Amino acid sequence: MARRRVAILISGRGSNMAALLEAAKAPDYPAEIVLVAADKPDAAGLKTAEQAGVPAAALDRKGYDSREAFEEALDSLVRASGAEIICLAGFMRLLSADFTERWRDRLLNIHPSLLPSFKGLDTHARALAAGVKLHGCTVHIVRPAMDDGPIIGQAAVPVLADDTPDALAARVLTAEHRLYPLCLKLYCQDRARVVEERVRVDGLSAETPLLMWPE
Ligand code: GRF
Repeated sequence: MARRRVAILISGRGSNMAALLEAAKAPDYPAEIVLVAADKPDAAGLKTAEQAGVPAAALDRKGYDSREAFEEALDSLVRASGAEIICLAGFMRLLSADFTERWRDRLLNIHPSLLPSFKGLDTHARALAAGVKLHGCTVHIVRPAMDDGPIIGQAAVPVLADDTPDALAARVLTAEHRLYPLCLKLYCQDRARVVEERVRVDGLSAETPLLMWPE
């Protein structure tokens, strides 16, 4: 199967992007990262992408009069790269229903909680405040509502008695770096498909669990 062409959108440090770039180095990985784009020129991940030899571009939101104009430019940039799939990886801007529908079922996101719990920001502090004992991250297909859409996979981590938001975030982030490459792989192999607004995954094995548990 030909490698699928993927664009990654970031806003900051880009550690999930780096995990996807690393996975895509393997010759048998089913995706090729053809573009990294950021909505901020100073997004640190842009340098990481350049160093990895991947085309990287910044579209400064401040340079556009409206969200529509910004998204139009973003859409053109992604299409020009030949990407057929977009992965949001710490992209901190809400995309319009128009954009998400244009990329329907071809737009993936990673969120740092076990959705549908803790949509939105500050997920780790809110998980601690709620006293949950299990927390984690989710890779899902994007729908217009925030942090909503069919779930491809999740990774769970324990919440420990003395956790701070930073300590918990670091544990979740390690899980994110494993989960996103796995989910993108299944998606690109056409093994994770949306059926009646749920993701159905074919050929699961012990090697590819879609819920990763604490090790
Ligand atoms: C991650 O925790 C991701 O789940 C969330 O934003 C953070 C981005 O981190 N959407 P990074 O830029 O990938 O390091």
